[in-house]
Amino acid sequence: MQQFNDTKILVVGGAGFVGSNLIKLLLESSNPKQIVVVDNLLSAEIDNIPNSENILFIKGSIAEENILQKINDDFDYIFHLATYHGNQSSIHDPIADHANNTITTLKLLNHIKEFTYLKKIVYSGAGCAVAAKDVTNGAQATSEDASISLEMDSPYSISKIVGEFYSVYFHKQHSVPTVRARFQNVYGPGEVLGAGQWRGTPATVWRNVTPTFIFKSLKQECLTLENEGKSSRDFIFVKDICRGLLACALKGSPGEVYNLSSGTETSIAELAQTINTLTENPTTCELKPRRDWDHSICRYGSTEKAQRDLDFKTEVSLKQGLQATIEWTKENLLFIEKCISKHADKVTEYNS
Ligand SMILES: NC(=O)c1ccc[n+]([C@@H]2O[C@H](COP(=O)([O-])OP(=O)(O)OC[C@H]3O[C@@H](n4cnc5c(N)ncnc54)[C@H](O)[C@@H]3O)[C@@H](O)[C@H]2O)c1
Repeated sequence: MQQFNDTKILVVGGAGFVGSNLIKLLLESSNPKQIVVVDNLLSAEIDNIPNSENILFIKGSIAEENILQKINDDFDYIFHLATYHGNQSSIHDPIADHANNTITTLKLLNHIKEFTYLKKIVYSGAGCAVAAKDVTNGAQATSEDASISLEMDSPYSISKIVGEFYSVYFHKQHSVPTVRARFQNVYGPGEVLGAGQWRGTPATVWRNVTPTFIFKSLKQECLTLENEGKSSRDFIFVKDICRGLLACALKGSPGEVYNLSSGTETSIAELAQTINTLTENPTTCELKPRRDWDHSICRYGSTEKAQRDLDFKTEVSLKQGLQATIEWTKENLLFIEKCISKHADKVTEYNS
């Protein structure tokens, strides 16, 4: 990726799961002049940021004026990955979601609207905000031009789609070179259960389905399958997402949106079974009803546009990706357990 040699790059939310992997890939594949990370460590640990003298870490929210004032018109690329993680935390505290998910995007775009040096800003959108609701089987691949419902499942989804609206607006009105990358379900090394601060519900600890299943499976615990495991998702390995983000920065057309997806639909039951097999967990899964807020039942993303326009397609199969994530989890178990245990009292209080 020589195109990133000698460039100055801002990664907002760079201490997080995807952000820290993106920085690793940038450092492995190129020689940037400087990578500036802005992160308030709301859902991340500082240890996640790779160690390099080329990285400048600014701790704080990108929505704060004193932080924005440190962002000058000398960046080649910006990746905006900050979010209020995730759906359930946002349902618990929509105002905190607004402060860290919606307003962050608006303030950042407004701050850079007259920048002249910037080549591209890549915004991380979410497939859940766009996919058709209540599809119980026979999902069709969601394409980039799918219509968007007014009925969103969570403040998180609202914020993610509003971020897309602002990306399009600031491109049209101010020629900000925004490119939207619409993620499917990302998994992989570097997603630390319990990372960051308590966000009101046990979802602070358990974050997403894949790291939760891997952690519990390694402990030979029972995996709980909501909606009896019948829901499906499009799982994409984090290194593939990061390659896709770089492709958006280099080849994406300003104002455009690209799905970053594997194009493969996998049921939650299949995911659980694969993880249990890889970790040799003999414990039978428990079937649970659907989460009442979640109407995103079966879905996966279309790969056509990203393949055609960005020459992007995934390289890591689900099995390979899960194996790598299991190995990483084993190697980092003590650190993960430390992050989970930070919230033990709050979880007990919540459940009582
Ligand atoms: N992981 C997925 O499956 C997935 C799916 C769809 C979309 N996305 C999007 O990808 C992006 C990265 O997600 P992730 O999985 O790495 O989540 P993450 O929680 O690990 O990373 C988000 C980062 O943003 C930081 N942050 C929160 N508020 C901030 C603020 N006000 N200012 C600066 N930093 C702030 C957090 O501390 C964290 O480091 C997010 O925008 C998310 O919405 C992720």
